[in-house]
Amino acid sequence: MSSSYQPLLFTILVFFLGSIFLEISPALGGKTHVDSWAPVKNLSETKMVEIGKFAVEKHNNEANAKLVFQKLVKGKVLQGYGTEYNLTITAKDSAHNDIAKNYLVVVVDAQFMNKLRLVSFKGPV
Ligand SMILES: *[C@@H]1O[C@H](CO)[C@@H](O)[C@H](O)[C@H]1NC(C)=O
Ligand SMILES: *[C@@H]1O[C@H](CO)[C@@H](O)[C@H](O)[C@H]1NC(C)=O
Repeated sequence: MSSSYQPLLFTILVFFLGSIFLEISPALGGKTHVDSWAPVKNLSETKMVEIGKFAVEKHNNEANAKLVFQKLVKGKVLQGYGTEYNLTITAKDSAHNDIAKNYLVVVVDAQFMNKLRLVSFKGPV
C-alpha cells in the first residue's frame, strides 16, 4: 500500500532539494567572491579622482616626468584585504606640448597601513 506514495515522495524530495540549491547558488557566485572586479560607475567620484592624481604624482616623482592628471576614462576595483584599483586615466604631458594621452595605472590601498601604493604605471596606451 505505502509503495504507491514513493514516486510522489521522491518528487517532493527532489523539488525540495532543488529549491534549497537555487537559494544557495546565487550566494556562492555572488558579491562575496574575492576575485570579482567591480567597475567604477561614477568616474567623477572624489575618491577615484584622488587615486588617479596620486598615481600621476607618484609617477612624476619616480620617473622625473611632468604629467598632469586630466580625468578618469574607466576603472575597476577589487576588494580584498586591501583595495586594488585598476584605472585608465588621461593625462597631459607638460614636458611634451601638453599632449593628452591615456595611461593604465594600478594602485593598492593597504588598509592596515592606511597608505596608497603605486603598483604600476603604463603607457601611453
Ligand atoms: C559623481 O560624483 C561626483 C563627485 O562626487 C558627484 O558630484 C556627481 O553627482 C556624481 N554623479 C552621479 C551620477 O552620481
Ligand atoms: C587592468 O585592466 C586592464 C584592462 O582594463 C588589463 O589589461 C590589465 O591587465 C589590468 N591590470 C592588472 C594589474 O590587473
